[in-house]
Amino acid sequence: MPTVAIYPGTFDPLTNGHVDIIARGARLFDRIIVAVLVNAEKAPLFTMPERLEIARTVFKALPNVEVDSFDGLLVDYVERRGAQVIVRGLRAVSDFEFEFQMALMNQRLNPHIETVFMMPAEQYTYISSRLIKEVFALGGRVHGLVPELVEHRLREKGAKKS
Ligand code: PNS
Repeated sequence: MPTVAIYPGTFDPLTNGHVDIIARGARLFDRIIVAVLVNAEKAPLFTMPERLEIARTVFKALPNVEVDSFDGLLVDYVERRGAQVIVRGLRAVSDFEFEFQMALMNQRLNPHIETVFMMPAEQYTYISSRLIKEVFALGGRVHGLVPELVEHRLREKGAKKS
């Protein structure tokens, strides 16, 4: 049976840390579905169609990476998609507490689903979508920290605002 993994998140925006984890997951699992959570934040910077389009464009060369959106409980979505694994990235010890809580809650909700934690390459361990938005909004350089398409879209948004 093919092993299908779900990589859930907000991806507002997709960072090179996410890209690194997805590329690792695509090598490890038969298929990895990048699942973008609907309504995670009341005012996301990127709309759902924008986030889906960015991720689909970035991963168009990887045939076993699919990009989808989901709503409601993650474990229900995992079951609906016939997946067996949830992938989460762990950057630092500070991520661990919340990730551990989520993994155990998901395990309780559906004991047939396994959470697998993956480490990104060291140079991405300090990147988060929140910091990217903050640094960019304040005029800092995010080159190399996000895919070029994201950098481009951030600039477009900045230009529209001013
Ligand atoms: O990118 P994020 O914000 O760290 O992703 C968090 C996410 C989407 C994985 C988490 O909020 C989630 O799974 N939400 C779906 C609702 C759910 O199942 N909640 C219970 C989790 S224990």
